[in-house]
Amino acid sequence: MVCIALFRTVRKIISPFATSNPTWIKRAKNNNLKISLTKKILVQTFTNVVNNLCRLIQNEVLNVDVEPDIFVADSLSLPMESSSFDACLTSPPYCTRIDYVITSLPELSLLSNSSKYLELLRSQMIGTTIVPDNNIMQSEMWGKTCVSMLEKVKNHQSKASSTYYSKTFIGYFDRIFCSINEIARLLRKGGNFVIVTQGSYYKNILIDLPLIIREMSLNLGFEEIESIILLTNKVLVKSTLTVIHMVIIIIWLRWQVGSEKGKETFKNKN
Ligand SMILES: C[S@@+](CC[C@H](N)C(=O)[O-])C[C@H]1O[C@@H](n2cnc3c(N)ncnc32)[C@H](O)[C@@H]1O
Repeated sequence: MVCIALFRTVRKIISPFATSNPTWIKRAKNNNLKISLTKKILVQTFTNVVNNLCRLIQNEVLNVDVEPDIFVADSLSLPMESSSFDACLTSPPYCTRIDYVITSLPELSLLSNSSKYLELLRSQMIGTTIVPDNNIMQSEMWGKTCVSMLEKVKNHQSKASSTYYSKTFIGYFDRIFCSINEIARLLRKGGNFVIVTQGSYYKNILIDLPLIIREMSLNLGFEEIESIILLTNKVLVKSTLTVIHMVIIIIWLRWQVGSEKGKETFKNKN
């Protein structure tokens, strides 16, 4: 609660630096443009945030007897026991090259001011724009859509497609696959897995993330229950090429009873 209040306070204070793109914050061009504030305003802003949060919690009467446990961990390696969960709901990065460490810098700056820590975190993110150090091997388990799309990126004639972009995309799909595998490990037989996804384009190449995630999951031993298409509130459809960006696909899968495929792959990886 204190952390959330501090995060909201810092966002309020830096609101003059917000842009129309929620993932991007302006930076002060010089020291004179930096925000300076008195202790009184800081305390006042924090107090208002805490009061608003308290009101919010009071209005949200949660009639549940269960105390939630909240953990923070890397989705590639979750510190939990195998076959111990009934369901997983997730929304991973969408292969759109958003650098979540940069977009979360206001919050992260409250947790640490070490640039080393921030760089380490950046390198560990799914969808990082940093090229992975090690040579990652593609796997057929990623599915035919993923493998053929990666081939198209590698052969694209534009600058850095065969080097930087190809390597960062392979790094992205390796981590997405390992994360789905980790979810398979944690789910009980018959456990539900719901994942929110969205497609995108690299140049003229479609990255059909919903289809890729579906293929990866089926290869690991999930069965598909249903896919739900949601239209986002961006209504400017300029061409058919942009339609894919408007659509969010929620995939609902189930860990097949008796399937041990994903769990075995996980063991091999470690
Ligand atoms: C599409 S966003 C989902 C946002 C979330 N649904 C929400 O409403 O805040 C993807 C999230 O995945 C997180 N992420 C990236 N790499 C991760 C990793 N290795 N382990 C866990 N989370 C990761 C990012 O920080 C980002 O918050």
